[in-house]
Amino acid sequence: MKDIISVYDFSKSDFDELFELTDKLRNMPIFPKILKEKTVALAFFEPSTRTYLSFNKAAINLGASTIGFSGEEGTSIAKGENLADTIRMLNNYADMIVIRHKFDGAAKFASEISEIPVINAGDGKHEHPTQTVIDFYTIYRNFKNIDGLTFGLMGDLRYARVVNSFLRALTRFKPKKVYLISPPQLSARKEILEELNYPYREVIDYNEVIEEIDVLYVTRIQKERFPDESEYEKVKESYVVDMNLVSKMRKDAIILHALPRVNEISREVDKTPQAKYFEQASYAVPVRMAIFHKIVGE
Ligand code: NCD
Repeated sequence: MKDIISVYDFSKSDFDELFELTDKLRNMPIFPKILKEKTVALAFFEPSTRTYLSFNKAAINLGASTIGFSGEEGTSIAKGENLADTIRMLNNYADMIVIRHKFDGAAKFASEISEIPVINAGDGKHEHPTQTVIDFYTIYRNFKNIDGLTFGLMGDLRYARVVNSFLRALTRFKPKKVYLISPPQLSARKEILEELNYPYREVIDYNEVIEEIDVLYVTRIQKERFPDESEYEKVKESYVVDMNLVSKMRKDAIILHALPRVNEISREVDKTPQAKYFEQASYAVPVRMAIFHKIVGE
């Protein structure tokens, strides 16, 4: 495996291997130094906390050095340097590039220029494949499998790249049913829906389906991707997961969120047994270590 641009770069057996490998890594007192003498460049042209830090930590755990930046401020991008030049330069400084960028397709573009592997850590409203591996690993930990479950994806299904990667990755499995819960303005994009090979239904009112759901995946309304701020204002509080909503859920259902959350999940929900988003975030480092293993081929 050279580059990871989309979840489609992972087959079903890649997912299974990543889950197993993550299980193993979580139990290792000392990690194999498969990235010894290597440098991983973290080129984050957009803000990030978890993704940046967990890639950084995963690389260090495996023996790598890391270089990089988070946010365009302080880089020559602020002087007008183009992405292609930045990628060419990083090819001289590093052995692998982890990139996050506001433009859809930026990671693919970078991979076409780059001689060294490129990992997509989020490109615009397109995809965020490694987040999906974390999401699926969390589901696997809680249910032992992905097949046969009923999913509800709720919130901003139009602009959230984590949703695209999640829905696409589900085509590798056999979900029982997927509910796409959003206001009409934030419904999932048509080109993604056309790719889905499992039963799904779009719903506006979660009350119609909440009792059936095993995995409720909540997303932040992606304010920064709205072409018009007034459009954001109209939908910004479309859904809030509160105690009332949780009380309608199955007792063994789980709530996931890639984080950061703004106000779409009330703080009081954090202590319910369904809340698994901090557990999910805790898997970011071991899952990304497993992903590095895949790239190195060990
Ligand atoms: C997500 C992202 O950047 O797409 N965050 C993350 O990587 N954990 C989700 C989001 O920003 O809403």
